[in-house]
Amino acid sequence: MQYSTILGIESSCDDTAAAVLKEGKILANITAGQEVHSEYGGVVPELASRAHQSNILPVVQVALDQAHIGLKDINAIAYTQGPGLLGSLHVGSNFAKGLSMGLGLPLIGVNHLQAHVAALYINRSPLFPILCLLVSGGHTQLLLVEDYMHMRIVGSTLDDAAGEAFDKGAKLLGLPYPGGPLIEKHAKNGDDTRFPFPESNVPDFNYSFSGIKTNLLYFLKKHSDQGDFISENLSDICASYQRSIIAALMNKTAKAILQYKPASLGLTGGVSANLTLRSEMEKLASKHHIPSVIPPFEYCTDNAAMIAQAGFYLLQTGQTTPLSAVPYSRSKY
Ligand code: KG4
Ligand code: ZN
Repeated sequence: MQYSTILGIESSCDDTAAAVLKEGKILANITAGQEVHSEYGGVVPELASRAHQSNILPVVQVALDQAHIGLKDINAIAYTQGPGLLGSLHVGSNFAKGLSMGLGLPLIGVNHLQAHVAALYINRSPLFPILCLLVSGGHTQLLLVEDYMHMRIVGSTLDDAAGEAFDKGAKLLGLPYPGGPLIEKHAKNGDDTRFPFPESNVPDFNYSFSGIKTNLLYFLKKHSDQGDFISENLSDICASYQRSIIAALMNKTAKAILQYKPASLGLTGGVSANLTLRSEMEKLASKHHIPSVIPPFEYCTDNAAMIAQAGFYLLQTGQTTPLSAVPYSRSKY
């Protein structure tokens, strides 16, 4: 493969990120988060767009500085074209287009979900086909990845994504957004068998998480007259709730291994930062004598290294994007 220096830009939701991929190696991976949403219990699209506008230039500059390169050293610009929040996507897209025009460089529009899968290839060459569980705030999918940028969905959530289940559950418990890391933190000291929340029963390799969240809601309502019930039992509630989400994810993944017989098992997306989920996936892979491919934390949640990595494969096959291309809010595959 021909090597090149690619600037990656990600702005699909509430993280403004830039990364530099040079000769197959990530030299910089910078992400600016947005604290502003925590008090609202979720991402406020208008506030996200405004924060991207302020963050994008400094984030790109820091990435270039950390990689010890200048604009003249870049060969191509990869950016998230979708899916995501349109206002947020426009900031990254327009920035990438401006640079592409100014520097006369190829532009590569990247699908954010394919980029989460491309995080599996950063600094390694996994064995294909990979059965990959993609779990983020907006998506929960089981994918059969046949080659670097070729994949098909074998299962999907019918309602909430796993990350949403964590975030909405956290909101019910009075925890700020994003709730996933906080549920994990409290769950560490809890008994995960104390409050069993039943799993939803959906066919095939699909998922459903809205029922688990509703179970939590009714459970909390039932105990609402008991004063400090939540704060006194927070660890056990978080551990039990986390256990039911992870059990649902693992059961379908285990079933899909038997059907698709993959050469390796992948885990990616923001929820894959969860240590219990990571360890369950590792155990499942070793039970089936296949390697697990789980990116380091910095490549799990939204980041631009995965955008640059996906851009690299698209560039190799000549899949550049015209300046007339527009961002899209819903996934195209
Ligand atoms: O991939 P990501 O950064 O953004 C999207 O593309 O959605 O995923 C964000 C999601 C949020 O729902 C967040 O609560 C969840 O990932 N998350 C976690 C953990 N860290 C982030 N969920 C559970 N445990 C974690 N440690
Ligand atoms: Zn994401």
